[in-house]
Amino acid sequence: VNDREKTRDELIEELQALRESHEQLRLALEVASDGFRDWNVQTGEVFFSPRWLATLGYEPGELEPHVDSWKRLVHPDDMPRVTEALQAHFEGKTPIYECQNRLRTKNGSYRWNLDRGQVVSRDASGKPLRMVGVDADITSRKDAEEALHQSREKYRLLFNHMLDGFALESASVGIHLVDLEGKVEDCNAALERMLGYTKEELATMLFTEFTHPEDAEKDTALFKELVAGERTHYLIQKRHVRKDGHTIWARVNASLVRGDDGKPEYAIRLVEDITEQKRAEDALRRLNVELEDRVFKRTAELVALNKELEAFSYSVSHDLRAPVRHVTGFVKLLDEHAGANMDETSRRHLTIIAESARKMGQLIDALLEFSRTARKELKTTTVDMKGLVREVQQECLGGVDGRQIAWKVHPLPEVAGDRALLRAALVNLISNALKFTAGRTRAEIEIGTGAPEDGAALIFIRDNGVGFDERYASKIFGVFQRLHDAAEFEGTGIGLANVKRIIDRHGGRVWAEGALDRGATFYFWLPKPKGGSR
Ligand SMILES: Nc1ncnc2c1ncn2[C@@H]1O[C@H](COP(=O)(O)OP(=O)(O)OP(=O)(O)O)[C@@H](O)[C@H]1O
Ligand SMILES: [Mg+2]
Repeated sequence: VNDREKTRDELIEELQALRESHEQLRLALEVASDGFRDWNVQTGEVFFSPRWLATLGYEPGELEPHVDSWKRLVHPDDMPRVTEALQAHFEGKTPIYECQNRLRTKNGSYRWNLDRGQVVSRDASGKPLRMVGVDADITSRKDAEEALHQSREKYRLLFNHMLDGFALESASVGIHLVDLEGKVEDCNAALERMLGYTKEELATMLFTEFTHPEDAEKDTALFKELVAGERTHYLIQKRHVRKDGHTIWARVNASLVRGDDGKPEYAIRLVEDITEQKRAEDALRRLNVELEDRVFKRTAELVALNKELEAFSYSVSHDLRAPVRHVTGFVKLLDEHAGANMDETSRRHLTIIAESARKMGQLIDALLEFSRTARKELKTTTVDMKGLVREVQQECLGGVDGRQIAWKVHPLPEVAGDRALLRAALVNLISNALKFTAGRTRAEIEIGTGAPEDGAALIFIRDNGVGFDERYASKIFGVFQRLHDAAEFEGTGIGLANVKRIIDRHGGRVWAEGALDRGATFYFWLPKPKGGSR
């Protein structure tokens, strides 16, 4: 009896201990997880732990303790996955059942749940009898994942479409991300279009693989500096080779992206197609070269033509002299021989012939002189304008005895030029001033200089003579162009043409201002001498 008593006591104790440890296990499960389920697979009965119920917002006893209650709470979208995982576990294909699924809470919202479980007993045929499962709420983790996914997706969209969106049709911006080795990690649609490769093809390539061989070295060197942190970005114009083998020109802007820890992570490369621009530039360059070539040829032609014309006019003028001399000579002979017997009319005709021949001789001489101005080589020295003007004044005064002339000569600069030619120009300008003031009781002639500007020189000669109609101010520089009657003011009309030619040959400019009866002013401007200051 004692033994039996003892045994029963012991049994009770053991049972007690067992119950306690069972209770401890339950508590541990409750604390470590978000509740558990104990499922009698055969009857469908389920024990839902209080905590399991609480996390879904239910009081104990509120849910029928049956597997169908649980199945009703599983999100319909997750059901196939759940069934599949369960099936696999029941068939013994997985040591542990594990599934992530959503469960509906009492208020209708869903929480993400990591469900882990195991069949703890099977019958002889291996059919599951009992299964225990533990749940863990992973809603916040799932939310974070979802947020991450969404922000990635957003970034993707931005990446793919934003730049496509505002880029111009012909010049959209291709973007690619490359790792620190230069391998493409991602790219947008514009780059695919630009290079003719798909994103999948590009994803296995180094950027150097679609770079023109001649530009690869330069780009690689810059990229290395970028990755090494020697620069934060770089800009390069380079050629890309498309999948179809065509070359396109692009402007690439590469910049380094660092992680939170400051370490370089990847580089972003923006690619702008500038093929058209390059083509236009090239065409323009070619055109310019062609144009320069043409201008050069044309100038050479013109120079040659000018020389020819010059030679022609010179030789014509020269050859005309002899016949004109003959006319003059024979008119004179005729006069001596038969002059006394001629009647009044014949004598007058003879005089006109003689006078015309003389005139013609003058014109021919003027032309020859003009021609010489063009052919003479320019001997440039420093010329003291003041001294030169004084010299010319003296020379011109010879023909104006008895006239009242008020000279006003300002200080004049030294200029760089051919003294003899500049002298010839001054002779004409000053003699014109004297000639066209002939009718004035008191001629006033002023010679001065403009404000000196960076080495160039401006000289003017002003008179108070008859002046001229301003409309013809540029015409009078032409050969034989005269505004005044030869009977009133004699001359051939070559003087100013000569002045213009002389100043032109010095690289300068000459012009006139005047008004009828209000005098005239002639200006000439000489450029700063090359290689030296005045
Ligand atoms: N100082 C001036 N005042 C008014 N008219 C002028 C003056 N200088 C030139 N002209 C006008 O310009 C024309 C051309 O001048 P240019 O010196 O070429 O010829 P010219 O003096 O008539 O003859 P040449 O100089 O050949 O003896 C003159 O005929 C005259 O009509
Ligand atoms: Mg003259």
